[in-house]
Amino acid sequence: MEKEMVIVLDFGGQYNQLIARRVRECNVYCEVLPCYTDLDRIKKLAPKGIIFTGGPASVNEPDAPACDPGIFSLGIPILGICYGCQLMTHSLGGKVTKAPVREYGKTEVHLDTASKLFHEVSEDTICWMSHTDYVETPAPGFKIIASSESCPIAAIEDETKNFYGVQFHPEVLHTAEGTKMLHNFLYEVCKCSGDWEMASFTERMIQRLKDKIGDKKVLCALSGGVDSSVAAVMVSKAVGKQLTCIFVDHGLLRKNEGDEVEEVFSKQFDVNFIRVNAQQRFYDKLAGVTEPEQKRKIIGEEFIRVFEEEAKKIGTVDYLVQGTIYPDVIESGLGKSAVIKSHHNVGGLPDYVDFKEIIEPLRDLFKDEVRRAGLELGIPDKLVFRQPFPGPGLAIRIIGDITPEKIAILQEADYIYREEIEKAGLNKKIGQYFAVLTNLRSVGVMGDERTYDYTVALRAVTTTDFMTAEFAEIPWDILGHISNRIVNEVKHVNRICYDVTGKPPATIEWE
Ligand code: XMP
Repeated sequence: MEKEMVIVLDFGGQYNQLIARRVRECNVYCEVLPCYTDLDRIKKLAPKGIIFTGGPASVNEPDAPACDPGIFSLGIPILGICYGCQLMTHSLGGKVTKAPVREYGKTEVHLDTASKLFHEVSEDTICWMSHTDYVETPAPGFKIIASSESCPIAAIEDETKNFYGVQFHPEVLHTAEGTKMLHNFLYEVCKCSGDWEMASFTERMIQRLKDKIGDKKVLCALSGGVDSSVAAVMVSKAVGKQLTCIFVDHGLLRKNEGDEVEEVFSKQFDVNFIRVNAQQRFYDKLAGVTEPEQKRKIIGEEFIRVFEEEAKKIGTVDYLVQGTIYPDVIESGLGKSAVIKSHHNVGGLPDYVDFKEIIEPLRDLFKDEVRRAGLELGIPDKLVFRQPFPGPGLAIRIIGDITPEKIAILQEADYIYREEIEKAGLNKKIGQYFAVLTNLRSVGVMGDERTYDYTVALRAVTTTDFMTAEFAEIPWDILGHISNRIVNEVKHVNRICYDVTGKPPATIEWE
């Protein structure tokens, strides 16, 4: 167990993992637990502090989520955020009502900076509000330490008990000094020492995996992406050759990528590594198919088939490792929004391969945390900082039908593009960049010859969450140089376009 930890109790708010991440950013280990977690379990974990998350419910509803009220007698500091603040008030004898105006968005809040929670925070600061209910009367013993125009009780404290509550969300970046407030809670109130680093997370996870897996067999579908690689390496450090990684090369990877993955996993780590060269099977199934979702479906299904065939050869395995990370859990978990594109990296693996349980060691981490864990584990930079690459690969970057010839053209063009972006030092500034082979051919002239060849589109976006994105402003001279190189070096390409649309209205990938 970690030496020092803070617990986030989840009351159904959308930012629950984000709170945990902010706490970890302050070098304090943190885990999210459901609000109904047993008091005994909490006592055993002996957290230095507890944070109640927000949530969509109202504490006055009969079935509103609650925690064991015994939590208030443990002598552990508590910070309630939004619903968490209302619950604390309600449970301890204060009054929560529906606010006359629902507050949503950036709001100026006036703080009592004598409170430990607001130590060295500006007196007037912008905070992110999102609530319908609010605290009308604080519970006995509580003092008001912040207010906004429409929320007279924006934060409360009971300094003797170390209970704090805020109506706003310190965890989101829109709260300008939110991280400072969380830092204050952890260090000024909970007296954390801040001894946590990613290294201790990876060590601890490896130990947990060892205990769980014992002498059993584990299987991993390795895509070569950062998530599945980090998950696989963690398991390999725990149980070595009890892990078999199956890497299905569907022939839709970027240039040299299959070999690079093989090199790392067969030489550097102690696992059974199986590369299945299934290119032709995928090409046959995809021949003549032009509809993007159809391509995804075919690739997803064929992937499962190939994987299953290989898995059968190994015999019964007990566990399947997946590199699911936290944003995947939210994206696939909400399930309410319209399906724009079906992603096949979550839950898309064989339901019918014979295994007991799925192991997801990265389920609580955000992408940058996974990268940090990857570096800790000694995975090469190239793999750790690899940009996201969709499961269906180049199939959704070739508009229209897919042929081996088109794949080869795109691989070359994309390779040059990536090489030049790296040379220009732009790779860490751009979220994702790649070339697309449009299905368009147009007239050009090379030497004295007429050409009738493909148009390649270049895409580069900056984004924080891949849900929205802006096109990256690559300097003209660099774009010009890339264009020259592609047209000169890649046969059958005579025109280059740069995509200047954001998401929305476009998506990042073209299909
Ligand atoms: P879009 O194109 O939806 O992409 O704006 C958002 C992010 O998701 C990736 N993406 C996929 N990943 N399977 C995946 O594993 C898919 O079918 C897929 N489609 C898009 C895309 O590369 C970007 O990072």
